[in-house]
Amino acid sequence: MITKNLTDAVTQLKQGQLVAVPTETVYGLAANALDAKAVAKIFALKERPVDHPLIVHVLNIEQAKSLVTSFPDKAEKLAKAFWPGPLTLVLPKNDRVPELTTGGMQSVALRVPNHPAPLAIIEECGFPLAAPSANPFGRISPTTALHVEQSFGAGAPLVFDGGPCQVGVESTIISFLDETPCILRLGGLAVEEIEKVIGPVAQVGKSAQSIAPGMLPQHYAPRTRLIILEEKDPLPNGKLGLLTLNRSTNKEAFQAYEILSPEGNLEEAASGFYSALRRLDEASLDSIIAYRFPDQGLGKALNDRLERASHLN
Ligand code: TXA
Ligand code: MG
Repeated sequence: MITKNLTDAVTQLKQGQLVAVPTETVYGLAANALDAKAVAKIFALKERPVDHPLIVHVLNIEQAKSLVTSFPDKAEKLAKAFWPGPLTLVLPKNDRVPELTTGGMQSVALRVPNHPAPLAIIEECGFPLAAPSANPFGRISPTTALHVEQSFGAGAPLVFDGGPCQVGVESTIISFLDETPCILRLGGLAVEEIEKVIGPVAQVGKSAQSIAPGMLPQHYAPRTRLIILEEKDPLPNGKLGLLTLNRSTNKEAFQAYEILSPEGNLEEAASGFYSALRRLDEASLDSIIAYRFPDQGLGKALNDRLERASHLN
């Protein structure tokens, strides 16, 4: 069921149930992060492997500090600069956080979402919310309440409708477990912005499974084959869909197309990215053809999602 009633959402969460909640990035499948039994329901509904840690959503820096054993200066600088916002900090957890929430790890991923609904819900509940993206494991992330309902079908949880997500791609994740802060996942906050505040950061390669569990190469995937082409590459045969920032040549070769931002604005492109991918996935095509985004700002995160969406093909 889709609701706009905050009290219903809070009541369910207090009873240890799941509720899908909006954030500025994507919709999250939320449960009380400090209640292992409630968190177990997230893994069950998503069919997510239990060693894939969840992101814990908190109200503010103080609540974040109540869940960790240390909060380095650079982490605090970023929190002050970008929370609430699409930035997740990985820090050493304390005993309040169950290991199920962190996939068995001794660290916890924390962020303050920039959306009034989850903030009001966390405040009312009085506990932080563990929430991975509200989609079945490995599928396209939801950016509307309807996406959540559609992707879980009859098993869908209560969904709080907070409108379409403004940022549209998941948060950027940065780890503070080592001396040099390290980007574990590209996302809604550009690395350039982070480096302006704390200087140079490291970035894990795509194979760094042990550092960023859950960052599988094949992720965020449509059911239709997605092929990334260079400008000069010939098109394959069959019914084709086009996913592009603003390329508008040769449109007649495609059965369906999604031009994400005619002006080439990467923020606008990110906010519509997953919805466009869903529409193309539902258009009975043989292949979705995608062209890379400029390799800067949010373009880096979008290219990362394209690569993961194309991986299985
Ligand atoms: O924007 C977002 O981050 C969304 C919204 C709902 O907040 N959430 C989200 O959650 O994308 P999810 O479950 O799809 O991504 C969680 C990822 C894990 O797969 C893992 O890569 C990383 O966060 N992660 C979580 N805890 C971690 C930890 N302790 N150490 C390293 N990576 C961690
Ligand atoms: Mg996800």
